[in-house]
Amino acid sequence: MTTSRIPGFYNLPLDERLDKLAEAAGVARADIIALQTAHGLMDEQADHMVENAVGTFALPLGIGLNFIVNGREVLVPMAIEEPSVVAGASFMAKLARSGGGFTASMSAPEMIGQMQVLDIKDLMAASLRLYEHKAELLAEADAVDPLLKKFGGGARDLEVRIIEESPIGAFLVLHLIYDVRDAMGANAVNTACEKLGAHVEELTGGRVHLKILSNLADRRLAKVQCTIPVKELAFGEGDPAGHPYSGEQVRDGIIEAWAFAAADLYRAATHNKGIMNGVDAVVIATGNDWRAIEAGAHAYAARDGRYTSLSTWSRDTQGNLTGELEMPMAVGIIGGATKVHPAAIAALKLMGVQTAAELAGIIVSVGLAQNLAALRALATEGIQRGHMSLHARQVAIAAGAVGDQIEQVAAQMVAEKTVRIDLAERIMKSLQ
Ligand code: MEV
Repeated sequence: MTTSRIPGFYNLPLDERLDKLAEAAGVARADIIALQTAHGLMDEQADHMVENAVGTFALPLGIGLNFIVNGREVLVPMAIEEPSVVAGASFMAKLARSGGGFTASMSAPEMIGQMQVLDIKDLMAASLRLYEHKAELLAEADAVDPLLKKFGGGARDLEVRIIEESPIGAFLVLHLIYDVRDAMGANAVNTACEKLGAHVEELTGGRVHLKILSNLADRRLAKVQCTIPVKELAFGEGDPAGHPYSGEQVRDGIIEAWAFAAADLYRAATHNKGIMNGVDAVVIATGNDWRAIEAGAHAYAARDGRYTSLSTWSRDTQGNLTGELEMPMAVGIIGGATKVHPAAIAALKLMGVQTAAELAGIIVSVGLAQNLAALRALATEGIQRGHMSLHARQVAIAAGAVGDQIEQVAAQMVAEKTVRIDLAERIMKSLQ
């Protein structure tokens, strides 16, 4: 990768953008051609992926520019239908560059498999027996995936939990901790849990009911931090066209906006949704399971019994704005759609990621950038202004505009500061 800064990218025709990308990423055009729909997932491939396939469902794929993650320039593919997300993330990544970019870290890639053990007479005695036989249970689980083991993964630990109260009374839960290396890990963990079931029944005298991965991957956390120099936050200060926000004002406005999410459930849901706009876009573009990431994120946000913001924003000792995001990040770069979907393969190639941890670090960086974009807009001019022109184009298309009409109808709606389908239809009629 040479650079993730590509000035003028927005103005290039789609095909030329691909050339620029290949050049900036230092990859062959052929390696990333699958990012174009015509070379992406084919119907025949889709037919092997799901049942009753009739086709594929496309989403726009944009490139998050300007990202530096752990000192490395990275071009980030983002699959998303919502206007402003790619632009917002790219702009915030540009601000973060001047503070050194994003610094990300990952815990070990350990997933949790759960076994629900019912019909146990003495829960304490059963727990003890499981701990006594921990080594042999782990050895058994370890043997399930020789490939993972070869790459340094495998069963790591067992934890016993007693659920004291439930609609069916008390029962025991056994957690299998499994290092899944560069895989998402659901298959390995589910297989291992199913394999252990009989042995656990024998040891506890109980009945192993559910055997399944937990999506609250709170041992597989990705953390990212960025610092935005306060002067970078100024919003056209001194500009005669008049954007009256100083860097200090924007910084404090962002911290106040974050405080709202930190304290209030209704706001926290929307705040975290903004983070997931960035996170999901990369998770989807790389063929990963975004439902798993969503489930993990929101459960993690409520880990202390109260749902709250996944990120934090504050001012550092120099008065700069600093942000942090920590969340579970169960993504893989081997197996599943990441190795089957041509666009996902191209997306990973474009980013040049070698490990799942590296991918996780990029994803949380985009999440934090996206959070910043939303808070900066909300704390200043509001969200609608930035949304307006792309949203207007979508509404124009929905009203039946084609070709040049799309720009004409959208521009007229923006000029009238009203973006509505009935207005778009009226403008269409006046053009005809
Ligand atoms: C819209 O998709 C996301 C936002 O609502 C996030 C937020 O409010 O922080 C703008």
